[in-house]
Amino acid sequence: MFPKRPAFGVDCGSGPFVIAEQWETATDARQERFEVIRSMLQGLFDLSGRTALVTGAAQGLGLAMATGLAGVGAQVVLNDIQEDKLRFEVARLAAAGLRVGACPFDVGNPVHVRHHVPAIEREVGPIHILVNNAVIHRRGPIEDCPKPRGTTSWTRT
Ligand SMILES: NC(=O)c1ccc[n+]([C@@H]2O[C@H](COP(=O)([O-])OP(=O)(O)OC[C@H]3O[C@@H](n4cnc5c(N)ncnc54)[C@H](O)[C@@H]3O)[C@@H](O)[C@H]2O)c1
Repeated sequence: MFPKRPAFGVDCGSGPFVIAEQWETATDARQERFEVIRSMLQGLFDLSGRTALVTGAAQGLGLAMATGLAGVGAQVVLNDIQEDKLRFEVARLAAAGLRVGACPFDVGNPVHVRHHVPAIEREVGPIHILVNNAVIHRRGPIEDCPKPRGTTSWTRT
């Protein structure tokens, strides 16, 4: 079982985002896998006292990287535009004793970024590690991809 650490909340304008959820709801096999990975990583390096922001962290590689960073001691702010999914995953990690907070906003929107990043730094402290991971995947034949219009497609994530 993970040692319990205090969770922290990030207020990005719509309330505190850390919600406790029973770690016991995870399967035994999943808990054991987490513990093995965490103990291996802790022997390699320690990110205690560091703060990370991982964008696009409600699923996939972003969620995996956020879990890894938090597992070696960093406090991690997870960001995504899928707010419900983000809150669910943050609650799951927080219940496992990891220091995580959710900050849902659109990284492709400069107004959101200018608002939320300083808010995170005010409430949690300076961001030492930025994982700029958010992406919109379009899977399919290249001929079905929408034609780029200027920089619009690029700036969406
Ligand atoms: N999956 C792969 O095979 C692969 C291979 C090479 C590189 N990558 C890179 O790894 C990264 C993650 O890939 P993945 O497969 O985990 O992707 P994913 O689609 O599973 O996750 C991306 C996340 O980003 C979020 N997101 C999208 N737009 C956003 C926005 N504007 N603001 C905030 N969040 C936003 C999505 O909601 C989603 O949760 C991407 O940068 C991708 O290019 C992935």
